[in-house]
Amino acid sequence: MKASMAGNDCVVIPDDWQGYKLDLFCIPKHYEDDLEDIMIPSGLIDDRVERLARNICQDFGHADHLVALCVLKGGYKFFADLLDKIKQLNRNIEHSVPISIDFIRVKSYVDDQTSDEVQILGVDNLDNITGKNVLIVEDIVDTGKTMERLLKHLEQYKPKRVRVTSLLVKRTKGSTGYRPDYIGFEIPCRFVVGYALDYNEHFRDLGHICVINEKGKKKYAAEAM
Ligand code: HPA
Ligand code: MG
Repeated sequence: MKASMAGNDCVVIPDDWQGYKLDLFCIPKHYEDDLEDIMIPSGLIDDRVERLARNICQDFGHADHLVALCVLKGGYKFFADLLDKIKQLNRNIEHSVPISIDFIRVKSYVDDQTSDEVQILGVDNLDNITGKNVLIVEDIVDTGKTMERLLKHLEQYKPKRVRVTSLLVKRTKGSTGYRPDYIGFEIPCRFVVGYALDYNEHFRDLGHICVINEKGKKKYAAEAM
């Protein structure tokens, strides 16, 4: 595997970004009252994911095998879209890379608060990452604690090399300073939902990445369910 050509350069959404008004795009009726604004429309996500796929293929171009590891549940949409783009590239290049997929479930949020307890719930037997190049695919890195814990957890399986891609990285005061290898967007410290990111399991069925409002937080609070 070549050294990363892309560094971890990404699209930066500034703190004063007001987002797009909800009625400029299509939002499911059932969420109309629960959102503040649209931070990243799905079309822009799609364009950025295409470029991440290219950067990843360039770096992994000479690898013999790649295990793409999806962090559930929030990572499923990014994972599916990223893999589609990687597959497209893979059928058009000289040094195509065989890819297998695996899943892992990680949980650390209740309402919009992170808890120190990170649960890592295996979905598959991870023995098949031993000796392999692994690409972890995550929806969002916030404090960085979850990813650092996951990386530590994976060490026991002795992968050859592990790289991490996260669609979003939040600028958070409590950050450990951890940065994934491939980042889609760096975003302000606001709670976002959509494109499979949830608030207590709601909003995964929203296409754009949006900011939840106070009404939405109350309506879907853990204790209200
Ligand atoms: N949205 C959803 N899940 C999250 C977030 C967020 O803003 N930050 C950390 N996990
Ligand atoms: Mg996640």
